[in-house]
Amino acid sequence: MRILSGMRPTAKLHLGNYFGALRNWVKLQEEGNDCYFCVVDWHALTSDYEDTSLIRYYTREVVTDYLASGIDPEKSVIFLQSQVKEHAELFLLLGMLTSVGRLERIPTYKEMRSELKDKDLSTFGFLGYPVLMAADILIYKADAVPVGKDQEYHIEFTREIARKFNSLYGDVFVLPKALFAPIAKVPGTDGRKMSKSYGNAIFLSDTFDVVKKKIMPMITDTNRKRRTDPGDPNKCPIWLYHLLFNDDEDSRNMIMEGCRTAKIGCVDCKRMLLQKIKEKMEPFWEKRAKLERDQNYILDVLKAGSRRAREVAKKTLEEVNEAMKIGL
Ligand code: TRP
Ligand code: SF4
Repeated sequence: MRILSGMRPTAKLHLGNYFGALRNWVKLQEEGNDCYFCVVDWHALTSDYEDTSLIRYYTREVVTDYLASGIDPEKSVIFLQSQVKEHAELFLLLGMLTSVGRLERIPTYKEMRSELKDKDLSTFGFLGYPVLMAADILIYKADAVPVGKDQEYHIEFTREIARKFNSLYGDVFVLPKALFAPIAKVPGTDGRKMSKSYGNAIFLSDTFDVVKKKIMPMITDTNRKRRTDPGDPNKCPIWLYHLLFNDDEDSRNMIMEGCRTAKIGCVDCKRMLLQKIKEKMEPFWEKRAKLERDQNYILDVLKAGSRRAREVAKKTLEEVNEAMKIGL
């Protein structure tokens, strides 16, 4: 299968990004699919066009997170959206057949307009977000797009626009399907969904000491006020972290039982978790630190990947222009 996905360079990646998407990307790569993984820097502008000072920095950091997580430039194409100008050309052409009303009705658009009041989302760029995303996907004729559930409507829109194009001008595009990762519940340090905008994220790049500072004060089962009160792991975000990091079934059973009978305290439970996180993350942290010291390598990966991506994108664009009878 041809696979394509991307992330915006607006932050370093956190555990939610890893367990919700990145882990699945690595799996698809290891299964031998033809993978394209993009950093979508133009998409970062759709909601934050005023302050662009960190986009390049985050681009490198996101690629570092990709590589440290196991995305391998020998197996997958890792590239930067803005380095493949054909995305912009296809975006323009697809825009011609996109209804403004259809874009305004996309649930994520309405939601973000009403929730993020401090941002200027009244722009043409933000309304056109799904059209640019459709261009990202269709230009590679991707069969499948591994994304979070929150991207569902965008993939649906992509299929619609591809269908419309194909029926007007001839079969050029493949209708992609969304691939949702097995649902992993990754709570933030405040118990809500992990998100960089809530300020409750544990980043892949956080050192052990930072992780410890974030985990130790976390609120656990709120009914467990005293050490002697029994608790319920199912009401506790620390337990969800154990499910992600603690593969040792005996240890998990002991915690489940110990919590319910007040044999163990929350501090003990958090210490055990930190130990498991350390074991699991140490190789990642080492790999990441090494990559971080070699910024030239990161840039080379992006340059080489973008060149490869461009070959494919150019070919599709030729077919598109031919089908639409644009140009000479
Ligand atoms: N909208 C995606 C997100 O916020 C990012 C994205 C842009 C994307 N273009 C894409 C994801 C193409 C998959 C395929 O997560
Ligand atoms: Fe949560 Fe562990 Fe405390 Fe139970 S013992 S409430 S699972 S932190």
